[in-house]
Amino acid sequence: MENVRTENRDGILWITIDRPKVLNALNAKTVEEIAEAFAAAKRDDSVLAVIITGAGEKAFVAGADINELAKMTPVAGKFVSEQGQNVFLQIERFPKPVIAAINGFALGGGCELALACHIRIASEKAQIGLPEVTLGIIPGYGGTQRMARLVGKAKAFELICTGDRIGAADAEKIGLVNRVVPADELLSVAEELAKKIASRSPVAVRAAMEAINHGADMPFEEGQLLEATLFGLLCATEDMKEGMAAFLEKRPAKFPGR
Ligand code: COA
Repeated sequence: MENVRTENRDGILWITIDRPKVLNALNAKTVEEIAEAFAAAKRDDSVLAVIITGAGEKAFVAGADINELAKMTPVAGKFVSEQGQNVFLQIERFPKPVIAAINGFALGGGCELALACHIRIASEKAQIGLPEVTLGIIPGYGGTQRMARLVGKAKAFELICTGDRIGAADAEKIGLVNRVVPADELLSVAEELAKKIASRSPVAVRAAMEAINHGADMPFEEGQLLEATLFGLLCATEDMKEGMAAFLEKRPAKFPGR
């Protein structure tokens, strides 16, 4: 891959968007490579969690590549938007936890990429926003939908219609990021969190994510039914037996992931 680096460190897959000269802007190739990285990680049982971040000091991802956007026809625009939406949906529906480590600018497509992740940790230096209306377009990789669902319609209207970016502390206040940490601690905090999740029962984590993800788009009672069904299913797993036995025997659990 040209623009995306991947490294599996002890079951945590690091995906780094690596085009620092253009602040890691997402051209078509980079979006394709992100999709490839996730497709490979899905097949790889040794991957227990993913952390996605940007190369360099300055940016997570400063948006879709404006050089490409500037030349786009309406038909190409719809296609590119749908493609990006599909890739980011693949991330949201990824069966293992995906953490965005937001190390700087997360603008436009970069903000949308972070929104598609399950957990967002931001460095104090992060600046987050959806500036598309300043370019005469709107967010096209799911941003209008995910931002409104995450922070509520009023804040989404304000952020998307002004195009203003906000700092990490304000992003935390509105629930746009889970946590803000000093810049030099960002990667270690993200790694610690990924490792903690990876130490839990993988089948239980997967079921919990499925319940949260699918339940969010269902009426409450159907969501509860999904929860009860997954709960029942987990009672048949080796992980459940091990988790319960470990508690009763006062020892740490060693989950087989089955
Ligand atoms: N697409 C293509 N190139 C981009 C880019 C993008 N989204 N964002 C930054 N770059 C390029 C700049 O053109 C510049 O290239 P150059 O060195 O050849 O001139 C380089 O990255 C560095 O950016 P620069 O603007 O000089 O840095 P800055 O610190 O002054 O400003 C930003 C940083 C993020 C505020 C500014 O780059 C910016 O507003 N970027 C666009 C953000 C955006 O609108 N994203 C949504 C797109 S839909």
